Amino acid sequence: MAGAGTEAGAHGQDRGVTATTPPDPTTLPLEIKARLLSGQDFWSTPPVEEAGLPSVVLTDGPHGVRRQQGDFDRIGLLESVPATCFPPAVAVGSSWDPEVAERIGAAVGVEARAIGVPVVLGPGVNIKRSPLCGRNFEYYAEDPLLAGVLGAAHVRGQQREGVGASVKHFAANNQETQRMQVSADVDERTLREIYLPAFERVVTDARPATVMCAYNKVNGVYASQHRWLLTEVLREEWGFRGAVVSDWGAVDDRVAALEAGLDLQMPSDHGAGNQVVVDAVRAGRLDEAVVDRSVRRVAALAELVREPTDGFDVDAHHALARELAAACAVLLKNDGDTLPLTPGQPVAVIGEFARTPRFQGGGSSHVNATRVDDALTALAGLAPTFAPGFTLDGSGDAAALRDEAVAAARDADVAVVFAGLAEGDESEGFDRSTIDLPAAQVQLIRAVAAAAHRTVVVLSAGSVVSLEGWHDDVDAVLAGFLLGQAGGSALADLLTGAVDPSGRLAETIPLRLQDTPSYLTFPGEQGHVRYGEGVMVGYRHYETAEVPVRYPFGHGLSYTTFQTADLQVRTTGDAGATVTLTVTNTGDRPGRHVVQVYVATTAGPVRRPARELRAFGKVSLGAGESTSLAFALDRRAFAHWDVREHDWVVAPGEYTVQIGASAADVLDERTVTLAGDDVVPELTMESSVAEWFEHPVAGRQLLAGFLAAMPDGAAEMHEGMLQMIGSMPMRRFTADFGSAVPAAELDRLMAAARAAR
Ligand code: BGC
Repeated sequence: MAGAGTEAGAHGQDRGVTATTPPDPTTLPLEIKARLLSGQDFWSTPPVEEAGLPSVVLTDGPHGVRRQQGDFDRIGLLESVPATCFPPAVAVGSSWDPEVAERIGAAVGVEARAIGVPVVLGPGVNIKRSPLCGRNFEYYAEDPLLAGVLGAAHVRGQQREGVGASVKHFAANNQETQRMQVSADVDERTLREIYLPAFERVVTDARPATVMCAYNKVNGVYASQHRWLLTEVLREEWGFRGAVVSDWGAVDDRVAALEAGLDLQMPSDHGAGNQVVVDAVRAGRLDEAVVDRSVRRVAALAELVREPTDGFDVDAHHALARELAAACAVLLKNDGDTLPLTPGQPVAVIGEFARTPRFQGGGSSHVNATRVDDALTALAGLAPTFAPGFTLDGSGDAAALRDEAVAAARDADVAVVFAGLAEGDESEGFDRSTIDLPAAQVQLIRAVAAAAHRTVVVLSAGSVVSLEGWHDDVDAVLAGFLLGQAGGSALADLLTGAVDPSGRLAETIPLRLQDTPSYLTFPGEQGHVRYGEGVMVGYRHYETAEVPVRYPFGHGLSYTTFQTADLQVRTTGDAGATVTLTVTNTGDRPGRHVVQVYVATTAGPVRRPARELRAFGKVSLGAGESTSLAFALDRRAFAHWDVREHDWVVAPGEYTVQIGASAADVLDERTVTLAGDDVVPELTMESSVAEWFEHPVAGRQLLAGFLAAMPDGAAEMHEGMLQMIGSMPMRRFTADFGSAVPAAELDRLMAAARAAR
């Protein structure tokens, strides 16, 4: 059954030419159509034989396929079919490399085809609003451009292999606390500039087969039944043509959800919701056309169903996981060229994570890895001594473990401490309450650093951990985040210099949790989380409010050095620019460099972040090699979301294009003037007097008439006067000074302003 429907669907042009053409699914009885719109079990849609539709399996990803074939659960506790665990999004974010994301997407697609999965759920492109979010390891970045470009690349790679993606969790799902109920209260500009653009880019650039709605409410309305999000923004503005799938168990009101634009409810609710749909149609409370609309979209997913392929190359995918993981880790500090380690150098490897690697996060994305590399084995060529230093569950005699590690460190030239968070410390389903490393590990690092000649710390954690209390005591820090099943060997490749570190931070490492922009409002209270920091998320906050951080967004070192030169910025039209520059590898070994292009401006009527990432690119350069790069900045690179216009507006004014080594370190910059958009604001009687006078169409005429009606000498005073009365709404102004501005004249000017819009 699956095969027949599948093949016809897979080759669309074959459809409708045989004598056995299946009927249009919308002509089926209502009960069958309703059945198609929810899962038949935990992971699949029901087959509809009458319409030749096979069952469609949707399982988790996105950094590996999690196909459960027996018992199932949504939190990754039960077994799934072995698959390669590629670097999770937290690592891919740090790669700043769409090629890494695309190759992971493609490899996951190949494995999904082999395992018989037509839709893999992911990627997640939610923004890291707080380092505490328990699911940050599944998200790419604190910046929407970086998250969107990487998410789109992943979807492109996966769908190129014929496997549908499901970009998630739409939208404003930035915490796990009360994730199924909390209302994310976010203003319009912040949604548009921070929380929606990554989804927009994935949808418009990569056309995912499905979008998964979030559990939470957005401004009081469940995302699963949010018409503005699911229909007006997603479909009408962005042109999404696929199916909207609920997060597992996210549907609250089935009829409201269908009407809002949610097509497929997952998982099965044993038919309860289907009956509600049937009853609503029969009672005239739901238009059957709404059901048909979703039936068409869900039926289209059947085109992705194919016969499974003949397996995948486990070794090749493991090697790929290793290569890509090495492109993700971030070298934060490397005083005195402590790294790379040199052959023959006496090395002490310390920390349980060297032997028992932490390489993925807990919850629905948990992959049953085909194999796991540990760094201790991978570093065997250096013949290191080893001491575990601590236990993952905090059991055992911490002092004795520490003393053993210190003794090993004392005898070595370099001590490499593998520290981090254990799986139980962070996961889907709950948020962290601290960014600190476990106290025993902090004590261990300090003790080792005091005894060792030189100390390197390698961190494994799904999100930011604080470096305070030990950072200044150590010589080098390599942030691995979570690198997937080959992370251990990839870390060894970086530590020994077989590969140049080229990751850059996709999230700021703050000095204190209290400095984080959402500190006072995360994770909310009494059912609401107020996104009070607005657009000032991550580096936008630290750079604008000049809050010092330990390491800024975009920071990352290499074993070689790079120089940026020849920066030129040319405007293209009223609201665009091209940026060209040259990058040279000035060191004596090959390396990869990330060019970061930011835009800084104070133009326009809204408070802008100090700078915002607007383009980036990663280049490979041999020692001494140079290359030229060009970036096109379109109008969105300069625009703000204007809540009055309900649109993107490029304000006329000056824009400084900056090349940054990070969000905090500007290497070079050029300022251009943009003519911007010719916005004629609406004028009403609620508009302020200042808005009336400053209006490009009505202002001059109004001012002339107004001054003519004033007593002699008032003309000279009009500046000061304007300041005093400027904030009065015109309606109240006319109540006081009616004779100065006749109502008929105001009506005429309002009409003129409207006509000019
Ligand atoms: C998660 C989704 C996941 C789904 C299915 C939910 O709890 O939020 O990301 O795809 O479960 O496992």
